[in-house]
Amino acid sequence: MEFDLPSYLGHCCRRVETYLDRHLPAATAFPQPLFEAMRYSLFAGGKRIRPAFAFAAAEAVGGDGEAVLPFAAGLEMIHTYSLIHDDLPAMDDDDLRRGKPTCHKVFGEGTAILAGDGLLTDAFAVVTAPGVLVDHPAERVARIVHELAVAAGSGGMVSGQALDLEAAGRSVDVATLEFLHTHKTGALIRAAVRLGGLAAGAGPDSLEALTHYAARLGLAFQIADDVLDVEGSTVQLGKPVGSDQGLGKATYPALLGMEESKRRATQLMDEALGSLEPFGPAGIPLAALARFVVERTH
Ligand code: IPE
Ligand code: IPE
Ligand code: MG
Ligand code: MG
Ligand code: MG
Repeated sequence: MEFDLPSYLGHCCRRVETYLDRHLPAATAFPQPLFEAMRYSLFAGGKRIRPAFAFAAAEAVGGDGEAVLPFAAGLEMIHTYSLIHDDLPAMDDDDLRRGKPTCHKVFGEGTAILAGDGLLTDAFAVVTAPGVLVDHPAERVARIVHELAVAAGSGGMVSGQALDLEAAGRSVDVATLEFLHTHKTGALIRAAVRLGGLAAGAGPDSLEALTHYAARLGLAFQIADDVLDVEGSTVQLGKPVGSDQGLGKATYPALLGMEESKRRATQLMDEALGSLEPFGPAGIPLAALARFVVERTH
């Protein structure tokens, strides 16, 4: 039977949103509008693909999603913070995100910055909340939380975003562009896949295969994002198209052209699929996600 990715994604989405709703302060909490802004961006929609990667990686190694859920929620909080800050006038200056006006457009720049700060820091509080990770060995928890912090911070996403700003309006070589993409987007996707595996108790060989998969797909995800910024639809994406060209961003289409960008994304997807062989049928959700990353229209 064909694997039904839309219903798999829908299931992941409901699971993680229910968890987030339960663990975040109410929108009416004091002081407003901080909590309103955090919830506004977090629940504005979004594919929840990082949580899906984490669940699918856990399944690939024979684990169940329950052990992954707090980490999946934390991932989505960190990702949402990165989007709020990415859209700020000082960065990409975008007005639309997840089909709605961006956080700073609705709440102002100061509150948007703080909503991002809140989501980032609270992500670690949600993940490590008392009673949540009692079934995980302490060493495993420390390892996962460390990986999450490194992926989000200056060793990962923040470096990529810094280089993204640096590279705008300049010409960069392919190696620099690859560093940029594997950090600004690849790092969190890699963390999502690895922590799914780690939370489910993956051994070293499985973890290596998952890491190979995630490294290829993290880069492919951002190449596809670049391609969609050129030929996607604002309605489907829920964010503006043409934003990269307007800002002179370093992207794969700008450097290599559309055809070569798509060829590289497909090649990365094939390499990612190849690394799933050891998992057999348990790797089917990860395989479907790999295809979706490259073939998606949103
Ligand atoms: C957009 O990420 C930003 C990138 C890192 C490319 P997504 O395409 O996963 O955005 P949402 O979460 O679905 O809104
Ligand atoms: C952003 O890359 C990656 C992040 C870490 C948020 P983009 O700037 O291309 O993401 P979009 O296109 O605005 O979603
Ligand atoms: Mg950006
Ligand atoms: Mg952007
Ligand atoms: Mg983009």
